[in-house]
Amino acid sequence: MADAVTRTACAKIILCGEHAVVYGRPAIALPLSHLRARATVAAGTGAFRINAPDIRADFDIVSDPTRPLSVLSRLTFEALGQSPAAAILTIMSDIPPASHLGSSASVAVACARAIAAYCGRELLADEASRLAFEVEKIYHGSPSGIDNTAVAYEQPVWFARGRPDAGAIIISIPQSPHLVIADTGVAVPTRVPVGDVRKGWEADPARFERLFDQVADAVTAARNALLTSDWPALGAQMNTNHALLQQLGVSSPELDALCDTARRAGALGAKLSGGGRGGNMIALAPDAQSADQLRIALRASGAARVM
Ligand code: MEV
Repeated sequence: MADAVTRTACAKIILCGEHAVVYGRPAIALPLSHLRARATVAAGTGAFRINAPDIRADFDIVSDPTRPLSVLSRLTFEALGQSPAAAILTIMSDIPPASHLGSSASVAVACARAIAAYCGRELLADEASRLAFEVEKIYHGSPSGIDNTAVAYEQPVWFARGRPDAGAIIISIPQSPHLVIADTGVAVPTRVPVGDVRKGWEADPARFERLFDQVADAVTAARNALLTSDWPALGAQMNTNHALLQQLGVSSPELDALCDTARRAGALGAKLSGGGRGGNMIALAPDAQSADQLRIALRASGAARVM
């Protein structure tokens, strides 16, 4: 076994297509490399132990076998063809949980990478993504797989569930859009809005399928705008997507207020990002200087944190 090893994974935002992606429509996610989860594995004694001081968790995978990170650890050792080591996994993360920035996927990818590295292997992005997906299923019920994919590849991804190539295509973006991210400060686990959309879809499948198709059109147009750096067109599709997410019932007064503030302060477009009901929204600025103005306006209007 190796000395103590640390591996990390990034956060993510959904640029457009959240929720509809669970129902087979495409979505685009971007990595946030400056926000990271860190996992360290060091030698220990007895059963493999997991310690996450941020959430005051300290348990071993034998006594607490059903916890998502116990499942992840066991699956990772299994994938490596090894029995769980007598070691301790310590997790630290900059990514606020339940804020729709991919915290659970990022922690899972960092942990899988650290366990593998401790056993002398580096995981391929696809292996880390598949392991993290198993944990996403425990947390979220029916995840599309976009979060673990964007986090494990740390690249912009176009994701459509059910594709033969595991659903994801890495897209290369000629110029990065000037995005500002603002947090409502309201923590909402992804499974809550995902479950509510599911209930809505079960009650009125025709209406929800129509909305998902409209989201897919917006995502396709957004991809073309992203590939041609046509920021006004991308902003327009973000606004359209936000309006559709409102109709899906996953926005909130706080998210709507931050989106309105951003548009009034010069954003080309603004929308909630990820699960919704709380967490983060994103706004597209025409240039770097306008992004500063947006940040100031969003802070002044009560955003809990602005990036
Ligand atoms: C969460 O980041 C995105 C959702 O579409 C859920 C999923 O795709 O699994 C809300």
